[in-house]
Amino acid sequence: MAQVLPSPGVESHPFHQNTKDGNVSSFSPGAPSSMSVPRTLPSLLYHHHHHQHHHLSTPSSSNTSSASDMLDIRSSSTSLLDTLDTQTLSSLLQPPGRKSLPSLLLWDEKGQSLYDSILATPSYYPYRVENALLQKQIGHIASTIASSTTDILVELGAGNLSKTALLLSALDQCLEDSSSSGSSRAGLKKMVYYALDVDHTLLSSSLHQLRKHTAPALKNIELRSLLGTYEDGARWLSQPDLAPYRKTMVWLGNSIANYEKDEASDLLAKFTTCSQNGYGMQNLAGFLLGVDGCLDQEKVERAYNAPGGENRRWVLHALEAAGEQLQLQPRDSDMFDEKNWKFEGRWDGERQRYENYLVPKRKLEAVVTCKGGKKVPLVLEEGEKVFVLGSGKWTARDVQGICEGPGLKLKKSWHSEGDDYGVYWLQPGKKRLDSGIEMEEDEE
Ligand SMILES: C[S@@+](CC[C@H](N)C(=O)[O-])C[C@H]1O[C@@H](n2cnc3c(N)ncnc32)[C@H](O)[C@@H]1O
Repeated sequence: MAQVLPSPGVESHPFHQNTKDGNVSSFSPGAPSSMSVPRTLPSLLYHHHHHQHHHLSTPSSSNTSSASDMLDIRSSSTSLLDTLDTQTLSSLLQPPGRKSLPSLLLWDEKGQSLYDSILATPSYYPYRVENALLQKQIGHIASTIASSTTDILVELGAGNLSKTALLLSALDQCLEDSSSSGSSRAGLKKMVYYALDVDHTLLSSSLHQLRKHTAPALKNIELRSLLGTYEDGARWLSQPDLAPYRKTMVWLGNSIANYEKDEASDLLAKFTTCSQNGYGMQNLAGFLLGVDGCLDQEKVERAYNAPGGENRRWVLHALEAAGEQLQLQPRDSDMFDEKNWKFEGRWDGERQRYENYLVPKRKLEAVVTCKGGKKVPLVLEEGEKVFVLGSGKWTARDVQGICEGPGLKLKKSWHSEGDDYGVYWLQPGKKRLDSGIEMEEDEE
């Protein structure tokens, strides 16, 4: 269970963190923007736990260099990461037509490297288009974030952090400029950047790379990481101790569109104060979202099913990961043997998304032993489709619709040359937008 650890004797530092290995690392996040803010953040949520079946994110002792910068924010009772085995089983026990595998299975260490090989294929446009857009607009994007007086910047699903150095360098420059020009943030310039992701190995190596590329050049931004899911992140950020600090979320790579639209709205709401099923996170400065809106079916199909088989191999990896979660050894069952499955991807025009399925080539059977020893039979019929992951393609109007529920207002957006890809800046706001998508408004 999550617990708040007191951190006696460390009051002189605004941020103190108990790290996974028991070290306490301290740093200054910069002064909070609100006048009434306490000068200390007494404790941050932290818990140790190692799930027996947990194969994602297992900390390795070789990563000591950055271990103290990583905070494990997984909640053992509710984190999707920690219930991945039961999630896997229950998604496969659904009736025909509703079976699925949790997409988190794709993001372990091996999955991440298979995903990297997709990024390198010539047909996978989203990565390159977003990169080019960020390169072009980074000055505007960084100054937008900087002017929101953010204390804590969290990058959701940070991945390989390949675009992050660009953003942080530009942001650091903005903070430097504003502090030297004697603006309101003079002397209060520090910001803490957290990379959040689910794979421990990836996080620590990405952060190491990021440090190499930016530090010690970054004068105003501290680099840290959070190990956990998006929900864990929202919950962690909602702790009362962090309420006074202004928070900005960065969510790039069209990752939001792995969710259905209503799920995406629900998730966004967890980072705001206005959701019924949220955690009541205070002081959201803004959300920077990278969203692909390409509705060219052929182009999307080429990107998501490259002739070299990169996408197919990545999606098929979910089988190996599922077998590990359910502790089914190949000698006991061939249910998750890739040879028994085929990959099927298809564009769903109505839902505006590319859908990835795995389909058994013949009837497959296994018996799964649950915790406590209960045995559960699992049967998959030949041809029965198992949904793994979708990638939505949302236009500016779709993004606007998704943000309405969580009370986020589209303040600015930047678009790729063909206008398909968008980077959106959203801020909490009560007013509904009448019309118009691209707006250059003053900060509230
Ligand atoms: C499409 S990649 C994007 C990576 C990077 N942000 C980029 O733009 O290139 C999605 C990333 O989100 C992470 N991820 C997926 N589901 C997640 C979840 N539920 N919670 C936290 N991270 C998640 C994955 O591990 C992966 O690194």
